Formats: sequence, C-alpha cells, structure tokens
Amino acid sequence: MVVNPPLTARAVMADAPVIPVIVLHELAHAVPMARALVAGGIRMLEVTLRTPVALACVEAIAREVPEAVVGAGTVRSAADARTAQAAGARFAVSPGFTVALGQACRDLQLPLLPGVATAGEIMQAQAEGFNALKFFPAMPAGGEAMLKAWAGPFPDVLFCPTGGISPENASTFLAMPNVACVGGSWLVPMEALAQGDWQRVTALARAVLSWPRHPAP
Ligand code: 3PG
Repeated sequence: MVVNPPLTARAVMADAPVIPVIVLHELAHAVPMARALVAGGIRMLEVTLRTPVALACVEAIAREVPEAVVGAGTVRSAADARTAQAAGARFAVSPGFTVALGQACRDLQLPLLPGVATAGEIMQAQAEGFNALKFFPAMPAGGEAMLKAWAGPFPDVLFCPTGGISPENASTFLAMPNVACVGGSWLVPMEALAQGDWQRVTALARAVLSWPRHPAP
C-alpha cells in the first residue's frame, strides 16, 4: 500500500520556483488553464478567492486535473479556509496572518502559507507554528533588503515573496538563502485567458522551471 505523506506548506513552496497567483473570471477558463500550467511543469496552483467563480474554479480543477495541486489564495478568514477546502483546495495562501486563521487551518489540516510584512507578524506566525511564510506585498514592503534584514533574527523561516515579482527581478529573490520560491501573477496573464492562449501559459510556466534557487530544495 502506498501512503502519501501529508502535504506541507514547505512542500508547496519547494515544488517549483514560482507559485502562480491566478485570478479567474470565467469558470470555463479554469480547467484548460490548469492543464496548461501542468503541461509546463507547474503543479501548485494558487487560485485566488477574488471572483464569484473562484470556488467553482477550484472545484473544477480539483475534479478534472488530478495532476495539479490546487490551492486557494486570498484566504482571509476561517470560513474562507473551510469553504476552500470543501471545494477541493489542498493548501491555502493568505495576504496576512491572524491567529484565528492559523488555528482554523491547523484544525482542518490545511497547509497554510500566511502572509507577513513585519517582524511582529513573523513572530506571531511562528508562535502559532508557521515558519513557511509568504512575504506580501514583497516589493512595496521592502523587497530584497527586508529579506536580508530578516535572515539574521529569523534564520529558521523560509519565505515566498509575492507582490511585484517579475521575470526581471525573480532571480535576485530566488538566490537568497531564506527564499524558497516566489509568487506571481505573470504566469497567467489576463489576455491569455481571454484569448484562450493556453500555449502561452504553458510556455511561461516552462520558462521558470529551470531557474536556479538557493537553497536547492
Ligand atoms: C496579488 O495579490 O495579486 C499577488 O500578490 C500577485 O501580485 P503580482 O501581480 O505583483 O504578481
């Protein structure tokens, strides 16, 4: 019998150099978009809970694209975490951290990448047992300099900077010892969705797979 280990937030961050931040306005886009990312080698998909169809999109991907590991982004409350998991989300990403959200995800056994932007938020998240964190919004909140400053007091924390990351600046972040991966919306451009240009999504995914990272996961 094969027993799969439970998914962890660190495993979500280790899977590829980039976690795509996905905003879907049409349910019909969900499955072909997910298949296009998987074809390009990206399996961890963050579908943001920002549109009326988001949960239905999570459900469709979970049902129809078993090669993908669909997660929910923009999870802001315990209720968001519950409904996302019920729809099929296997991990959650939040823009910030609250103790209530951390406890809910722990109770649900739903891996959470909580967002942090200050040392105090990191300390709160660590006190609740979270040490794989999203740095959000990475560029407005201090970018590379902030991550360098945090490496001293928080050597046991791994970050996924998100917000303002692009193909142009991603390599700087991926070379940092306390960065496991980055998050970004550029892998799934709105125009590609509107035009059904799935080849472009696959090509964008494929382009990031070989990006070097430190530490190698
Ligand atoms: C977001 O909240 O939309 C994410 O942080 C993605 O930001 P980006 O569009 O700058 O990649």
